[in-house]
Amino acid sequence: MPIWDLPLRLFHWLLALAVTGAVVTGWLGGNLMVWHGRLGALILGLIAFRLVWGVLGTPTARFHHFVRGPAAIRAYLAGRWHGIGHNPLGALSVVAMLLVIGLQALSGHFARDDIAFNGPLVSLIGNAASDRITRLHRLGADLVLILVALHVTAIAYYRRVRKQDLIGPMLTGGRQGIDPAADRRRGGGIVALVFALAVASITVWAFQGGWITPSADAVADPAFDW
Ligand code: HEM
Ligand code: HEM
Repeated sequence: MPIWDLPLRLFHWLLALAVTGAVVTGWLGGNLMVWHGRLGALILGLIAFRLVWGVLGTPTARFHHFVRGPAAIRAYLAGRWHGIGHNPLGALSVVAMLLVIGLQALSGHFARDDIAFNGPLVSLIGNAASDRITRLHRLGADLVLILVALHVTAIAYYRRVRKQDLIGPMLTGGRQGIDPAADRRRGGGIVALVFALAVASITVWAFQGGWITPSADAVADPAFDW
């Protein structure tokens, strides 16, 4: 069985592409903000998927497998950790990325720019609160960039200095040498996958705000509601 199951690998590379796209479209702004919103919605769905997969996925994808306390981190730093999957230190960066990227996608849905783009849930909180969240969203974007830069640097360090290839397994799955039948019993089956995809779809739908009853003003001109 692979170290990283296929849904987790697809999640990772889609997330990497979507976050890169969201940062670029956010910087460029203008007409690209429509795509910024679409990519942000995709990212929210991916994170929702990952949260469910962290409970129902295959063993190495599960949070309780890799989110460990300080003792495990010390053991890792002392060279006494020989597990598979995310190491106890790398797990901190995984959790930080999932959290910060998730919050960034959430805040985006309540943000608006100074021109004509409103996140789909701005009307729930009003313009003043939206402007405060937008400021946080701009700070959040910098935090996302810092975490991704650290992440890619760490992967490069493992490859060049510690001669350990982490990218291969994230592309092909890698081999963990566990009996496939035993592994299947330990999660990540088709029912778990359908459930995780359903949760992700419902999350994206709910945050698109189609269920909000538009006010008369908003119907007249949804983009210029100040
Ligand atoms: C915007 C860009 C990126 C983001 C947001 C991102 C995010 C993540 C996240 C959240 C994980 C944890 C996976 C999990 O949920 O369990 C992860 C793991 C990983 N990522 Fe990325 N990633 C990005 C770019 C890259 C790039 C460019 C590479 C390759 C050069 C890469 C290689 C890896 C590898 C090898 C792992 C597994 C690390 C391990 O073995 O513990 N990532 N990444
Ligand atoms: C993880 C997902 C996201 C990332 C990484 C991201 C990143 C960014 C970046 C880099 C900027 C430019 C900040 C600046 O000018 O300094 C930005 C602005 C913005 N984003 Fe996002 N964003 C995400 C999700 C979303 C979502 C889902 C929405 C709405 C549906 C959204 C709405 C906005 C708005 C309205 C602005 C303009 C703010 C302004 O004019 O200052 N974002 N975002």
